[in-house]
Amino acid sequence: MDTEIIKLEKESREGIFGRADLEKLIRAGEIIKKGGLVAFPTETVYGLGGNALDPEASKKIYEAKGRPSDNPLIVHIAEWDAVRKIAKEIPEDAEKLAESFLPGPLTMVLKKTDIVPAETTGGLDTVAVRLPSNRIARALIREAGGYVAAPSANISGRPSPTEVKYVIEDMMGRIPAIIDGGEGEIGLESTIIDMTISPPQVLRPGFITSEMLSGVLGRDIQIDSAVINADSKQPPRAPGMKYRHYAPRGELVIVEGNDDAVISKINELIAEDRRGGFKTGVMSCDENGNRYNADVIKLTGPFGDQKAAAHRLYSLLRSFDDEEVSRIYAESFSSDGFGAAIMNRLLKAAGHRVIRV
Ligand code: TXA
Ligand code: MG
Repeated sequence: MDTEIIKLEKESREGIFGRADLEKLIRAGEIIKKGGLVAFPTETVYGLGGNALDPEASKKIYEAKGRPSDNPLIVHIAEWDAVRKIAKEIPEDAEKLAESFLPGPLTMVLKKTDIVPAETTGGLDTVAVRLPSNRIARALIREAGGYVAAPSANISGRPSPTEVKYVIEDMMGRIPAIIDGGEGEIGLESTIIDMTISPPQVLRPGFITSEMLSGVLGRDIQIDSAVINADSKQPPRAPGMKYRHYAPRGELVIVEGNDDAVISKINELIAEDRRGGFKTGVMSCDENGNRYNADVIKLTGPFGDQKAAAHRLYSLLRSFDDEEVSRIYAESFSSDGFGAAIMNRLLKAAGHRVIRV
C-alpha cells in the first residue's frame, strides 16, 4: 500500500487552518469515513486513527499495529458532548473532570452504549473516551465523523511515536496516510481513569496526575496497584498495561541510587560490555552526561525537569536503536507527580530490570 504523507503548515499546528490545509484534513477525514486508517498528531503521542463505530476499521488497526485484539482502543472525540452517544451513565465526577481537564491528556473509562462495536473495546462493556487538545487532531476527528479509535501509532511493543519520522518508520506501507503535524508536546500517553468504579482509579499514569484528579474530585484517587507493582499477581485493569511495551531493541537496564554510586556502577557495566563487543548507551540528566564513558550518551534534560524528560523519553529510546546501541543504562527518576508516568513507562521499557546500588 502507498502511504501519503500529508504535511501541514506551521500555522495549522496552532489551529489556524489555511484553505489548503483544511482541504487536506477533509480528505484525511474522508479516508477514515470510508473505513481507512490515518495516523495523526495529538498533544501526547501520534495516534493511528480509524472509525471507532466500524468494526472492520478496528480490525485494520489491530492488523497494522500487530496488536492483540483483546487490547481495547481509546475512542477520540472532538467535543465533550459527543460522549453521550457512546457512553451511558455519565457520572457527575466525569463531568467535573471534563470541566477541569478537557480538552487535554485525560482518558475516561465509562459504560459503553450498543453503538460501540465489541471490536473497538476488545469485548469489554466499557469504552475509553478521550478529547485531545491538539487542534489538528480535533479537526480530523470532526471531519472523520466524530468518533476515531486511535492507539499510539507504533508497531505493538515499540515506543510510542512522538515525532512523525517514527510514525513513518513503523507505519509506512501499512496505512493510506500519515499527517505530519510536528512533535507532541507531552510525549507520554494520556492518563487513563476508570470512572465505572467508586472511587475512580487511575489505570495508566500520565500528565494529569492522581494528585490533580484528587484535587478536583475532593477524594483520594489512587493508581491501580497492579500498574505500580511489577510482581503483582493481579492483572492490570487496562489490558494494554500487561504487555511488554515501549521497548528499544537494545537491552535497557535502570540503575538506581545516589549519583556517584550510579555513575560508577554504570561505568563499570559499560567497561564489561565493551569487552564483550557491545555498543553501549546511557540516558542521563544534563548535569551527569559527561561523567559516563558510553559510546552514546542521551540527555533527558536538567535534573528534576519531569516535563523535559517525558517529552524526550520515547525519542531517546528510539534514537538508541537508530545508532544500533545494544546495551543501554538509564538513570532513575523520582516517582512524584508526573514522575509516576515517566517511571511507569521506563520500567516497562526496561522489562523491570533495575539495579539498585
Ligand atoms: O495519549 C493517548 O492516549 C494515545 C493517543 C494516540 O491518544 N493513545 C493511546 O492508545 O495511548 P493505546 O491504544 O496505545 O493505549 C490505550 C490503553 C491500553 O492500555 C488499553 O488497554 C486501555 O487504554 N484501554 C482502552 N480501553 C479501555 C477500557 N475500556 N477499559 C480499560 N482500559 C482500556
Ligand atoms: Mg500504545
